[in-house]
Amino acid sequence: MICMAEKRIVYMDHSATTYTRREVLDAMIPYHTEFFGNPSSQLYSIGRVSQKALDTARAQTARALGAEPDEIYFTSGGSESDNWAIKGIARANRKKGNHIITSRIEHHAVLHACEYLEKEGFTVTYLSVDKYGLVDPAELEKVITDKTVLITIMYANNEIGTIEPIAELGAIARKHKVYFHTDAVQVIGNVPVDVKAQNIDLLSLSAHKFYGPKGVGALYIRKGTKIDNLIHGGGQERRRRAGTENVAGIVGLGKAIELATADIDGHNRHIRELRDRLMKGILEKIPHARLNGHPEKRLPGNINISFEFIEGESILIWLDDEGICASTGSACTSGSLEPSHVLLATGLPVEISHGSLRLTLGNVNTDTDVDFVLDVLPKVVSRLREMSPLYQKSGKEGGCNVQ
Ligand SMILES: Cc1ncc(COP(=O)(O)O)c(C=O)c1O
Repeated sequence: MICMAEKRIVYMDHSATTYTRREVLDAMIPYHTEFFGNPSSQLYSIGRVSQKALDTARAQTARALGAEPDEIYFTSGGSESDNWAIKGIARANRKKGNHIITSRIEHHAVLHACEYLEKEGFTVTYLSVDKYGLVDPAELEKVITDKTVLITIMYANNEIGTIEPIAELGAIARKHKVYFHTDAVQVIGNVPVDVKAQNIDLLSLSAHKFYGPKGVGALYIRKGTKIDNLIHGGGQERRRRAGTENVAGIVGLGKAIELATADIDGHNRHIRELRDRLMKGILEKIPHARLNGHPEKRLPGNINISFEFIEGESILIWLDDEGICASTGSACTSGSLEPSHVLLATGLPVEISHGSLRLTLGNVNTDTDVDFVLDVLPKVVSRLREMSPLYQKSGKEGGCNVQ
């Protein structure tokens, strides 16, 4: 539970963003105040101090991923890292081929980058997923051609929390000598990552998803990878992404990733216990509800549940009234309410996917928070159903859960 001004807030939207940890903020502040030098100003001490801070953060990030420091490139976040990986690999390897493989449940930073490349003449295969959101490695192997230059499959899904068989997918890419990128934005601090063991050539991450600051991320690029530079200009990030570095942000990322990956199991044990109790409680207390995503292969804090006969947005508004922050898979696009592309890809009917709620727990949550949501949510769903003509017509009051 968090107290904002007078209001008690139960924050269960950690997949959207996290607060910045105190230790992370403390590590960043000196780089806004006394050590404000430009890391490129090597002829005086405060410039050299900034450069050293970047080196430390690069080493911390590399260690967390099982990479080498000179394989880490700092960016402005997950979207930039995804765009760089996808467009950079596609364009640099155009002579070899024009085929990209991804999945239908990727984040829009991946899907829209792929769609953009289609306009440049690339062909993209969008792999289907099963009812849990899992990509089938055999399906991946089937669609690889001698024109495939990139496979980009997310490590874990941001909406339903499903964790993909990344090492297996990476091994297939390696066998066929195709570059393999994974969007691991939701994964850092939740699942152990080892880029070498998992055959990952490129990996995107973003600090604000693991208790670091917003607007800073990284792209891991395996040594020897043929990729276009992102920003032309000065010599920063080994000439691949020019521009004066966000030193304080990068220091924060380094500290946050070190803390988040120090004890992944220990850190997540309590979150997983709270999540399981909440998930079980919701499914027991609320009829006509179904869990989305895989029952076990899912991120430790993720719950995604669809409630029949009502809209996810209405649930959110009522929860907000009670001080509960959550989210839904639906996105408001061009003034119309689009159902989640992820839920649709898992085969959920449009009308049920509209009634979805995502609760993502993190290290601020307590047993009291879980009790509170278990008290409020069934009342909210019940009140909304009372107002729903669909529910009245269905005559389903008091039925059992749809699994
Ligand atoms: C899976 C995934 N990829 C990419 C992004 C984009 O990251 P950023 O907000 O740092 O640009 C997000 C953010 O929600 C995400 O969940």
